[in-house]
Amino acid sequence: MEQQKGYLSSDNKRKVTTHRLLEMKQRGEKISMLTAYDYSMATVIDQAGIDVILVGDSASNVMVGNTTTLPITVDQMIYHGKAVMNAVKRAMVVIDMPFGSYQGNPHEAVANAVRIMKETGADCLKLEGGREITESVKLILSAGIPLMGHLGLMPQSINKFGTYAVRAEEEAEAARLLDDACLLQEAGCCSVVLEKIPAQLAKKVSAQLVIPTIGIGAGPHVDGQVLVMHDMLGLNKGFSPRFLRRYASLFDEITAAVQQYIHDVKTADFPSEKESY
Ligand code: KIV
Repeated sequence: MEQQKGYLSSDNKRKVTTHRLLEMKQRGEKISMLTAYDYSMATVIDQAGIDVILVGDSASNVMVGNTTTLPITVDQMIYHGKAVMNAVKRAMVVIDMPFGSYQGNPHEAVANAVRIMKETGADCLKLEGGREITESVKLILSAGIPLMGHLGLMPQSINKFGTYAVRAEEEAEAARLLDDACLLQEAGCCSVVLEKIPAQLAKKVSAQLVIPTIGIGAGPHVDGQVLVMHDMLGLNKGFSPRFLRRYASLFDEITAAVQQYIHDVKTADFPSEKESY
């Protein structure tokens, strides 16, 4: 606990920017990143000292209950992005560009990116893919919008993959991923998420890139880690992949609190005289 407090106090007021992420990689400081989709949770994790908040399209799963990230729209990402931006003072806020908003016409991609930035005030956007989206990546970057890449398991392509299994175990896919990571860096991306790939491959990519890599299921040799907040807080009981570490059991804690409340209401214990006017 002492160590945590001391660590946070070194830099806990300065806004995190793309430049600071680069500095963190250079001095070997790991980057912490979590998802958030609403004002209340973003307030908590920003004040706790998280470096980067991702308004992930995983909102489609954990906020709405869809089985994939595909249905979420630009309007819905803007809604979640604004809520998070209303809360955050220090963390760098990254918003996912949703499925269908950048994979086609690069001019539509830049229009969607500009709209998300204008209407939310976010610091950066994230999109999934490598060589197949480089035209969109270049055009968005040329508009002055920082971008984070996302390689390996890309949930927006789940129908193409047909499985959530580990990616790039085969040499050809691993080589392609490394090339794609270099392409994203050359194009000007500020960072790349590596999802569910072998730890040794993530190590190689991280060593080759100057920009930071953020892993999820990519082992320890990356420059930072990201988890979906609902998963790491134990709000999501049915999802236990190997890479997930749970830091709380909120499903059980909330259940106990709600059951206590129901009991107190039914027995007329709540409200007491002190809780009444
Ligand atoms: O949408 C999301 O939450 C993500 C993370 C899994 C990296 O993209």
